[in-house]
Amino acid sequence: MRPIRSSDDAMMCHRHVTSDRLCEHPTDAIALSFPAAMHVWLETESDIMFACREVRSLAERLNFNRSSTYQLATAASELASNLVIHAGGGWLSATPMTKQCLTPPQGIELLSKDDGPGIVDLILALTEGYSTTGSLGCGLPGVKRLMDTFAIDSEPGRGTWVRAVKWH
Ligand SMILES: Nc1ncnc2c1ncn2[C@@H]1O[C@H](COP(=O)(O)OP(=O)(O)O)[C@@H](O)[C@H]1O
Ligand SMILES: [Mg+2]
Repeated sequence: MRPIRSSDDAMMCHRHVTSDRLCEHPTDAIALSFPAAMHVWLETESDIMFACREVRSLAERLNFNRSSTYQLATAASELASNLVIHAGGGWLSATPMTKQCLTPPQGIELLSKDDGPGIVDLILALTEGYSTTGSLGCGLPGVKRLMDTFAIDSEPGRGTWVRAVKWH
């Protein structure tokens, strides 16, 4: 998949949606990543709680403030619950990121990937209140709002991929 970037809040095309708050945070296209601190297969409610705790602990270790730590853990929890509820399981990773190789990591990338049923209409899926399971429908819009960079790609019948990054 070719990355698409935009300084707008969101740039949308048929199967791919991405947003990048370039004004506050320069593009992370050249960011370096460390080995994933967490890379787990999620299938159950307790897996969701585990992933959420791991992401919170990673954020604390990287000196994210309390509010950003909470936002990262919330985003991880939403991605994790989507993997469990909508995809029947999937992978979630959390990876420290840096923009300058000599400084300690100042960002965390969340990456979720599954081979589930995929999403037919990404624009609808990102609309506040839209849910195919009668739940709140705030998960994906929430992740997009809470994180600095957000991209999603999905293909019906083949699965879904979400990448979101938060910086200090
Ligand atoms: N990993 C996924 N695989 C398949 N469908 C998904 C996935 N994540 C989200 N969706 C779809 O996008 C919709 C919106 O997701 P979300 O905003 O998290 O709301 P909710 O989980 O409350 O339904 C879901 O109802 C579901 O149809
Ligand atoms: Mg959800």
